[in-house]
Amino acid sequence: MTSSPAATHPPDLEAAAAALGGRLGAGSFAAALVLGSGLGGLADALAAPVVVRFDELPGFPRSGVAGHAGRWIAGRLEGRRILIQAGRYHIYEGLPRELVTAPIRIAAALGVPVLVLTNAAGGVRPALGPGTLAVLVDHVDLMEGGFPEAPSRAGRAAHPYDPELRRLAVRCARQVGIDLQERTYAAMRGPSYETPAEIRMLRRLGVDLVGMSTVPEAVAGHALGLRCLALSLVTNWAAGIIPAPLDHAEVIDVARKSAANLEGLLREIVRELPAA
Ligand code: HPA
Repeated sequence: MTSSPAATHPPDLEAAAAALGGRLGAGSFAAALVLGSGLGGLADALAAPVVVRFDELPGFPRSGVAGHAGRWIAGRLEGRRILIQAGRYHIYEGLPRELVTAPIRIAAALGVPVLVLTNAAGGVRPALGPGTLAVLVDHVDLMEGGFPEAPSRAGRAAHPYDPELRRLAVRCARQVGIDLQERTYAAMRGPSYETPAEIRMLRRLGVDLVGMSTVPEAVAGHALGLRCLALSLVTNWAAGIIPAPLDHAEVIDVARKSAANLEGLLREIVRELPAA
């Protein structure tokens, strides 16, 4: 949890985008990649990186969750200039949706055309165990209401995940020998993990994966005209599927250990994106 003043005074996004753009230098980006819990390794692979911490921009607090070092890294990967966002703000930190989606709105202001979101998720079905990789087809938002990003679209973006990018991800996975599942994600508010009864409910709703991020960002990105792709790395079976209790440190640990496959897939996807 954080009790930063930013929770009550949303940052000036225009000023923040101008400041970030100034620090990162001229040139357009082929994509922005948001790297979730324990998945930040790809940031170290960027050539000629320029790093800006979230809290170097006015109005942006430090992100306080273990495994999330909140920062942007601009650089080149597989011949493309990309913007990595390593770490993110979460609703479960007590932060408003405006701040959770602020980095996405900054990416939009910088003219980024493609948004690739990643997360660590729980597998709601026995077939989706630790190490499984999935591309999101759809989601169920059980986090909270309110979509300030898209007031003119009656609040809700119906299809935030770009079908062409999804097909590209499936094709790239095949190229690198990864079985990429096409699945539905439920966003929970957290911060506690779900109960076994909640997971049974999600399974009946047709949900495959559960997590506490990604949906606000996908909705905001889509509303702002970015083409969105979201990838989940399953770090654990969700509550009640196997008897062991869940633990955040274990989630981060599995994410780090299985991140190599996801990184390989992300590289392949970035290589296939149109050059900026
Ligand atoms: N539930 C919610 N969020 C998660 C999980 C989970 O089981 N695993 C990783 N993030």
